[in-house]
Parts: sequence; C-alpha cells; structure tokens
Amino acid sequence: KETVVSGIRPTGKLHLGNYFGAVTNFVKMQYDYNCFFFIADLHSLTTHPTPGDLHGYVKHVLVEYLACGINPEEATIYVQSDVPEVAELYLYLNMNAYMGELERSASFKDKVRSHPDNINAGLLTYPTLMAADILIHKGTKVPVGKDQEQHLEFTRTFGNRFNRLYNSDYFPEAFAFNYSQNLVKIPGLDGNGKMSKSSGDGNCIYLADSPEIIRKKVSRAVSDSGPTEENQAKPEAIQNLFDLMKIVSTADTLAHFDELYNKMAIRYGDFKKQLAEDMIIFNTPIREKIEDLSKDSSYLRQVAIHGALKARESAQKTIRDVRELIGFKPF
Ligand code: TYM
Repeated sequence: KETVVSGIRPTGKLHLGNYFGAVTNFVKMQYDYNCFFFIADLHSLTTHPTPGDLHGYVKHVLVEYLACGINPEEATIYVQSDVPEVAELYLYLNMNAYMGELERSASFKDKVRSHPDNINAGLLTYPTLMAADILIHKGTKVPVGKDQEQHLEFTRTFGNRFNRLYNSDYFPEAFAFNYSQNLVKIPGLDGNGKMSKSSGDGNCIYLADSPEIIRKKVSRAVSDSGPTEENQAKPEAIQNLFDLMKIVSTADTLAHFDELYNKMAIRYGDFKKQLAEDMIIFNTPIREKIEDLSKDSSYLRQVAIHGALKARESAQKTIRDVRELIGFKPF
C-alpha cells in the first residue's frame, strides 16, 4: 500500500475550503492507503499563538478530523509535536535547503507582504518542515488543496537532493493528490480569492457554524446588481457563489439557478437562501458530531496517544536509517 501524509495547521476551526480541498479526500483515502493525518501545531508557531489558544485549536482540529469521518483504527491521526523525529529530520533537510530558493516560495512572499513585522526564520523554512512531515513516513501521495502545490515541489527537491548527497534512493517522490484529478480551490464569500481564515471570518463557512450564522454570512456575501444581458459570463463574485452551490447543492438546483441567471430572471435573495439552506443540510451532521466529540476528553486523549505511538514507530525507523546514511555512527 502506498503511504499518504497530510496535515492541517491548527489556526482556528475548519472551513469548507479545508473540507473540500483536503479532508474529504482523507476520509476516502483511509480505506485504500497507509494514511498519516496530523495536526500541524509546529507550523502554527510561526504566528505566535498563546499557549492557551494553541491547545484549544489543536483540539478543534482533532475533533473535526473525527467528526468528518476519519477513523483512528484505519488512519494514524496524531499531533505533529508529539513526534519529535519530525523536528530532527527538519534540521537535516535545512542543511541543504538554500536561502535563495526558500525566499522565492510564493507563500513566503505572501507573508512578507501581509506581515512585514514578523518575518521569522521558521516562516522561511516552512517548506523544509513540510518536507520533513512527508518524508518522515516516506509518503508518496499528499491530499491537499491547490495552494499547497508549490510546497510539494519543494518536498521533491529536498528529498532528491538528500538522495543525491548520500548516494541513495532512500526518499520516494511525493505528489499532491485529489480523487478528482484536479486540485481544488474553494472560493470564499467576499468576492475574490479563496476561502481562508486570514481573509476574515465573514469570508468563511466553518463546519461548526450554526444555521443562523450560515444564513447571515451567505446573505452578506458579495454579489452585484444582476446580469444585464442574457447568457452573459458571470463576474468573479457570482461565479464563486455558483461554485459553492456546486459543492453543496444537487445538480438540479445548480442547473435551475444557472438557467435563471442566463435568462436574467435570477433573484439573488432566493439564490442565497437556497445556497445557505444546502450548506446547512451539508454541515448539520458534522456540526452535531463536533459538539458531541468536544465533550469526550477521554476519547480524544486515547486517540491522540494511540496515534502518536503509531506515528513515532514509523518516524523512528526513518530517523534510524537517515542517521546511518548521514554517517552518525555509534562508538
Ligand atoms: P492549511 O492548514 O492552510 O490548510 C489545510 C488544507 O486545506 C486546504 N485548503 C483549501 N483547499 C481548497 N480551497 C481552499 N480555499 C482551501 N483552504 C485551505 C489546504 O490546501 C490544505 O490541504 N502547509 C499546510 C499544512 C501542512 C501540510 C504538511 C500539508 C503542513 N505539513 C504536510 C500536507 C503535508 C497548510 O498550511 O495547510
């Protein structure tokens, strides 16, 4: 069986972008592959969460993984910081990751633009930590959204470079994966770009959002004054809402509103109402499971401990091999 690795940063609750870009694939893949799904708490330190917030966010992601249907008996679910071997491999990979290439990373350049006051070394070496996450289990398939594609390229570069340096073929190449062939980018509600926590809560529909909150957010979603001619191309904000409808509504509903749009007979109030109700139908069972699981601390502890044991067993084997390849020898 091929090995699958993926993780999510605990920076808040999971939204529809996380779900349709990543988690839905995790749930399907767990039955077909040897899967490791983790909570990337080391990665989240780049933005300096308080100790209190950090633990709460890690718990959110653990609960949400389980609520979405990841089964801890099928897949290994763990917290990244419970596996210190990851940090050791990160150190080795950093020795042949170059400043120039790291500075050219699109996500690094984004952060430099948006947070010029906090350009730390952890941010620069984010791609080597991510490579360590994947290579520690010798993963080959990585279910992620489109925004992570460049990070996977880095992972292949660092793995191949290690292999060349130590004259081995130890690390396999890892590729981004989605069942539907194309990696996805789920849009938000603000009329441009992807759904993401950093662009504000109003832009995101969270798996844990109540029906009232979903109705409110969708009714405030950016739209326009309506089509001005028949069959006209949809502007970005409207296309985004149709894209969201495509993932939560039936094909018939989508076709119905598409036809109204093309005939210039669409009423955005009705369209948004339908979109909100279908989002509610989609998220209700997940939200209810989130509420139940959040209360079950002893089960969560059991899952985290069981996952950490399995993940460390796999990670320790890799670290033993890597130390030998590097030339660390016992006296
Ligand atoms: P993160 O935490 O930003 O996002 C988690 C996952 O959700 C996907 N995603 C989206 N997909 C489609 N449309 C969207 N609007 C959208 N927003 C988020 C992301 O692509 C990702 O799959 N660097 C990673 C975490 C990570 C990781 C890894 C992933 C650390 N180590 C090793 C895979 C393997 C990140 O920041 O994802």
